Amino acid sequence: MNNAGNLVVLGSINADHILNLDAFPRPGETVTGSQYQVAFGGKGANQAVAAGRSGAKIAFIACTGDDDTGKQIRKQLESDNIDVASVNAVSGESTGVALIFVNAEGENVIGIHAGANAALTVERVTMQQQRIAQADALLMQLESPLDSVLAAAKFAQQNGTQVVLNPAPARELADELLALVDIITPNETEAEKLTGVKVENDDDAAKAAQILHGKGIDTVIITLGSRGVWASQQGKGERVPGFKVQAVDTIAAGDTFNGALMTALLEKKPLADALRFAHAAAAIAVTRKGAQPSVPWRKEIDDFLAQQG
Ligand code: RIB
Repeated sequence: MNNAGNLVVLGSINADHILNLDAFPRPGETVTGSQYQVAFGGKGANQAVAAGRSGAKIAFIACTGDDDTGKQIRKQLESDNIDVASVNAVSGESTGVALIFVNAEGENVIGIHAGANAALTVERVTMQQQRIAQADALLMQLESPLDSVLAAAKFAQQNGTQVVLNPAPARELADELLALVDIITPNETEAEKLTGVKVENDDDAAKAAQILHGKGIDTVIITLGSRGVWASQQGKGERVPGFKVQAVDTIAAGDTFNGALMTALLEKKPLADALRFAHAAAAIAVTRKGAQPSVPWRKEIDDFLAQQG
């Protein structure tokens, strides 16, 4: 869509080492996996790819190592319609790594080595302030240094760029950062970390959303797994169900949702339509294995939605 707004994603890049198992090992236990795969991932890169493949005009601010993996990832990101001029190879660093177990239910546990992602410093972010200022929206996660996320949010807010935060992985955040955020997209665990409310049903989600509104955030979208999302704007919320599909692997489902949501919002789709578009993208992603290999292209999302009638 030609008159869509510009997106900047700031975040992490990882090489995901994924092992499929029947069940997660317990402490002290060794289990043999059934499939091993190395695929490109990282919450920032996954969200950038989801935005790029679903049709956004997008630039990515991130760091790789000065290694072969970094070079390959950069090439892949370019082929996913992403402007990679602000993806820097950091000398002496290795590209970030994620070690991921996936069980028979498609659930995952993840351990991260930040590597070059830790080099996305305030200084590097400051060098990109023009790019942030010129964008319509800035999408970030929490696999980058927190002071850099805060600095980018400040540049964005000072220049009228919408600040969108996917607060993953879960951690507590200062009110100073939350006050700069326009749209926040936590899952249940992340919402609990930010608000202290254990999110188990719609009432809990509404309560958590109100607390986040109270911190100055206009739009709160709490993702609830197979139950869809709780979407709350200026204090008025409702649950928006997703699509029922057979999940084989939920890696990057949330990332795909976030990237596709931004594409739709920057095309000026109303929130309800944007959520439906993002739900469709995530539904396709969970039927496929891996992070970026599972992220759908625009045509696949449009075809999926057309089939829903
Ligand atoms: O959200 C999924 C991502 O989390 C994986 O791709 C992994 O790299 C970790 O960052």
